[in-house]
Amino acid sequence: MATIAPAVLPPEIASAIVNPVAYGEWNGIKEKFRWARDNMPVGLVQAEGYMPFWAITRHEDIMTVSKDNARFLNAPKSVVLGPIAVQMLTHMITGGSPHLVRSLVTMDAPEHMDYRKLTQSWFMPKNLASLEEKIRGIARASVDAMLATGGSCDFVHQVSALYPLHVVMQILGVPHEDEPLMLKLTQEMFGGEDPDLNRARSVELTPEQVTQFVIEAVRDFEGYFMKLAAARRADPKDDVATVIANAVIDGEPISDRNAAGYYIIVAAAGHDTTSASTAGAMWALAKDPEQFARIKADRSLLPGLIEEAIRWTTPVQHFMRTAAEDCEIGGQAIAKDDWLMLCYVSGNHDERVFPDPDRFDASRGPNRHVAFGAGVHQCLGLHLARLEMRILFDELLDRIDSVELAGTPLRASSTFVGGPKTLPIRFVPS
Ligand code: HEM
Repeated sequence: MATIAPAVLPPEIASAIVNPVAYGEWNGIKEKFRWARDNMPVGLVQAEGYMPFWAITRHEDIMTVSKDNARFLNAPKSVVLGPIAVQMLTHMITGGSPHLVRSLVTMDAPEHMDYRKLTQSWFMPKNLASLEEKIRGIARASVDAMLATGGSCDFVHQVSALYPLHVVMQILGVPHEDEPLMLKLTQEMFGGEDPDLNRARSVELTPEQVTQFVIEAVRDFEGYFMKLAAARRADPKDDVATVIANAVIDGEPISDRNAAGYYIIVAAAGHDTTSASTAGAMWALAKDPEQFARIKADRSLLPGLIEEAIRWTTPVQHFMRTAAEDCEIGGQAIAKDDWLMLCYVSGNHDERVFPDPDRFDASRGPNRHVAFGAGVHQCLGLHLARLEMRILFDELLDRIDSVELAGTPLRASSTFVGGPKTLPIRFVPS
């Protein structure tokens, strides 16, 4: 039976859920999510400056909502949390759309599948197998660069921010010399809330200023990719850029806005996320020499390390959905048009599914985390992300004997894409 009165989350929990800094600090937000899971697993967030929304915090409910793509939609409202001021600005700039970028994650059926199918085969294991040697070459070069530092480095700046970037840009077809620009624009787009990553490098930004910077990053992305699309139409190559540039749906070429959005989602979703979980894996190994030694000696444990790093880090911290009709989730009545947050950080720390969830355990099994989402929008790049990480750690573990933290790592202040932004380490080469 659905309850009548809405379950409203206490103000201190609601304000943490919308606060980027809380995700940077990490432990506090995990505690708040634990309270929500135990006491109000589908709880209304009423936070100043934000449209009210339901925080879905239990693993089971996140799965239910994610898989019910007819009842919980991506197109009607923003799929990423933002203050009302930001939503209004987005509406104004786009001429009425809730989405700054129009991409796979903002589409519903049937359009979504038409677009997803255009590039899907590129990201499937069969195609990736043919790229494995190329990816291994990139991984080796990344480990070479790390070893060249002589024994200590910031793993994020030296390795994890660059390696997945290089891999996905190769698949997309962006020239190597433009990768720094892609990294900068992605960080500005996802890191608008973090003073170390936004355009102004400033703590004192209003939501409107944050949005303005994000919009500028999106504009720069669009400008760049429109040129790339024109180049690939004139001179097609064997890359994803060519597929998108020449895409036809129902006999019509796709619009410039849709093509730009497609490039942006592949370019941006394809590296910051994997960078974060790669750094998460290294962080865990640096804290636990015994686990490091075990995995170094037995590489059959690598897939477990990778999966646990993705769960433990949860690079994508939420996505939003909109209810298409009146319904019920976890005993709570939800009305048509209500906005829902899939709290992946919480789902991945739900003790109903993951015993001792804060512990990093590479041998955890089963490890049915929700870090890649579920349902028709489930991450298109999940096989690529796993492959890249497995290859990198295989190469790395061959070449270092031990690793430890050389300072305190910092997580990005962001409600959306998060994870380590610095990871100082010391290591002993083999
Ligand atoms: C969608 C996470 C790596 C491309 C998503 C979603 C999540 C996610 C949570 C939304 C799922 C949902 O709504 O149910 C991650 C994580 C990654 C990662 C944690 C790394 C550890 C990648 C990579 C690519 C990629 C390497 C490369 C292209 C995409 C795309 C979508 C997506 C295109 C939209 C799919 C759709 O809406 O149909 N990802 N991702 N991701 N991801 Fe990833």
